Amino acid sequence: MKNKSLVSISDFSKEDILRILVEAEKFENNPNTRILEGKVIAMLFFEPSTRTRLSFETAVNRLGGRVIGISDAATSSSTKGETLNDTIKMVSGYADLIIMRHHIDGAARYASEVSAVPIINAGDGSNQHPTQTMLDLYSIKKTQATLENLQISLVGDLKYGRAVHSLVIAMSHFNPSFHFVSPPELQIPDSYKLLCNKQGISYKQYVEISEAINKADILYMTRVQRERFTDPVEYEKVKNTYVLKNAMLENSKQNLRILHPLPRVNEIDMDVDTNPKAYYFEQARNGVYVRQAIICSILGLL
Ligand code: CP
Repeated sequence: MKNKSLVSISDFSKEDILRILVEAEKFENNPNTRILEGKVIAMLFFEPSTRTRLSFETAVNRLGGRVIGISDAATSSSTKGETLNDTIKMVSGYADLIIMRHHIDGAARYASEVSAVPIINAGDGSNQHPTQTMLDLYSIKKTQATLENLQISLVGDLKYGRAVHSLVIAMSHFNPSFHFVSPPELQIPDSYKLLCNKQGISYKQYVEISEAINKADILYMTRVQRERFTDPVEYEKVKNTYVLKNAMLENSKQNLRILHPLPRVNEIDMDVDTNPKAYYFEQARNGVYVRQAIICSILGLL
């Protein structure tokens, strides 16, 4: 992985994934070292973020590196008409690694083709969010003690949810059974169903959430991605389709853990937060260790 960009979760083999998870556990046990001393990491966030940007920054700071970047496209020269090509070429002359979030599907791939330094995709449109997936896998392994043969229920906006798309690809290495729960308008795109068919992975599609809760080892809730809708009326129709409440978990498996990439809007009621099966805040914290492992792996420091 040294000097290779991470644009899609498909850029990681099963062995790469497992190796990153082992390294992440070492960082969890010892998060403060000086392994990034002398390195400059650029954070280019052309789209809003709380967790991804701050956990990457925490990861770099805890390892002794320095961070430069933009957290708001409105304060960058893209507002003056500078192209992504020019921005990336220029920043790749300043930094050892670029971490980029962009609203356009494929922007990270494009950036990786024009950059002199590796790119980490921190989310491109509704396409992919590979580092979210790595922390999701870490969280699944930590709570289930395995990644193999799990029942995974994915709920909500499966059409535009980039975290869902990357997770389906990554989990396909581990023989899961998927339960896809969405309103008809927000079904998982056909390409992911084709992937499951090709890999012999079982999946079912549901509209009702109740059917998928009691079967699940992992219940992966997602927000309806308002910013991806071109018609606000369409968003209004589906925005409140699923609201998970504590009472709905009564007959769930003992080992069930509820994950969410966050931010949540209203799809998990706050009464779930104190349920021992709720794991989304720990999941977000795991992002620091996993991102430490990814950065160091790409920079050839592990
Ligand atoms: N999960 C995630 O990508 O959160 P942010 O949008 O806050 O970075």
